[in-house]
Amino acid sequence: MEFDLVVRNGTIVTASEHTDCDVGIRDGKIAALMKGLPEAPREIDATGRLVLPGGIEAHCHIEQSSSLGIMTSDDFESGSISAAFGGNTTIMPFAAQHKGQSLLDVVADYEARAAAKSVIDYSYHLIVSDATERVLATELPQLIEKGLRSFKVYTTYDLLKLDDYQILDVMSVARREGALVMVHAENHDMIRWLTKRLLDAGNKAPKYHGISHSRIGEGEATNRAISLAELVDQPLLVVHVSCQHATAAIRDAQSKGLKIYGETCPQYLFLTVEDLDRQGMEGAMFCCSPPPRDAVSQEAIWTGIENGTFQVVSSDHAPYRFDETAKLQAGPEAPFNKIANGIPGIELRMPLLFSEGVRTGRIDIHRFVELTSTNAARLYGLFPRKGTIAVGADADLAIWDPDLEYVVDWSDLHDNVGYSPYAGKSLTGWPTTVINRGRVVVDGGKLCAEPGSGTFIPRERSELAQPRGKLVREVDPARNFGAEIL
Ligand code: URP
Ligand code: ZN
Ligand code: ZN
Repeated sequence: MEFDLVVRNGTIVTASEHTDCDVGIRDGKIAALMKGLPEAPREIDATGRLVLPGGIEAHCHIEQSSSLGIMTSDDFESGSISAAFGGNTTIMPFAAQHKGQSLLDVVADYEARAAAKSVIDYSYHLIVSDATERVLATELPQLIEKGLRSFKVYTTYDLLKLDDYQILDVMSVARREGALVMVHAENHDMIRWLTKRLLDAGNKAPKYHGISHSRIGEGEATNRAISLAELVDQPLLVVHVSCQHATAAIRDAQSKGLKIYGETCPQYLFLTVEDLDRQGMEGAMFCCSPPPRDAVSQEAIWTGIENGTFQVVSSDHAPYRFDETAKLQAGPEAPFNKIANGIPGIELRMPLLFSEGVRTGRIDIHRFVELTSTNAARLYGLFPRKGTIAVGADADLAIWDPDLEYVVDWSDLHDNVGYSPYAGKSLTGWPTTVINRGRVVVDGGKLCAEPGSGTFIPRERSELAQPRGKLVREVDPARNFGAEIL
């Protein structure tokens, strides 16, 4: 049997097993997994290395205009390159609809941005901020048919938020057409109310962002979104969970057998509200929503990772430079509510979790693979093409040196942000070679792929996003009535 590329002598790790063997790659697919494969025109020696499925970065904002109307500092070229250096072979940014826009136009626009620039494979989630009759009846079904099978709704941000009625409308389309709904869950009026009072009292420093976005508000909106999903029997992923209140709501729903999933991010494991209180305006670098919390919340998030409450760890990479073009667009002393929300992390997501999760023994390597690749593939309809190492799957591999030691320095990273919230942190373990559909994208610190060589990947209906289809009317006659009348 002939191969284009053989990765030799590594330890292959998937979500469920590990084995020492070679990987034979032909036409972009994994063609054989066994020891002693014949020589190929290109060979990579993975002795002493871990060969993992390429990471799937399922929550990032790239070349996207924010909730305040500010463009992210990464386009599809710098964003995908940074993702690749961090061990990812697929990115799933958001194609964001702003009020008044047609979703079809939005997607066409993002496709033009990505196709020419991405060095790795990509798909999009849709952000639905204007759930018009046309969007619900025509555009969403058409886009789902094209393989865009996930959309995010917001319960906050003036430019993006939907009310409960509109969220039910979106959920019912998702249920009918076979898509997953993702929710940004924070209580909008609690944020508005706290913001007004904080500003009226002259409290405008970045640290007050953390106070205005309360854990109670995150917990309330999470509970509410879960209730909406339960009413119409629609699977729901609560994204960027930061605190115990939301974690408990998700776990409680899961214990009732509801298809409620959870995602968290490195900022809720490694940063705290103290970072928002750094000198001068430096705290602006750490303003994201929900905000980093405290040690108690961090522990609750780690527990949720360990006990299975969370299915995915994503970066929520939302890159804004710390200057007047982005974070400080509203001035050098911008009040906290005018600071662009979001922090970078696409390149460090997996190294952080590997170093602080796997190396410390909090999670094992299989759970790491699940959280960073396999579960995203399953949730979003990419599995088994992506998210695992198996014959017939895309040859998407990240070859890790588990002992490589590294101190984070933003100037080594490949994004276009100019700072890292994790600067100075010592990490162990790094992906040194990254292969996407058989193409070597990164090797030994060098980029080996051309912009535009990544491909749009249409997604299938996901089993995890299927409604349960059960009516539990004896418990509550209204429950699932929403689904019954869709
Ligand atoms: O602060 C954040 N997370 N910014 C990105 C937008 C979002 O809501 O995910
Ligand atoms: Zn969000
Ligand atoms: Zn986000």
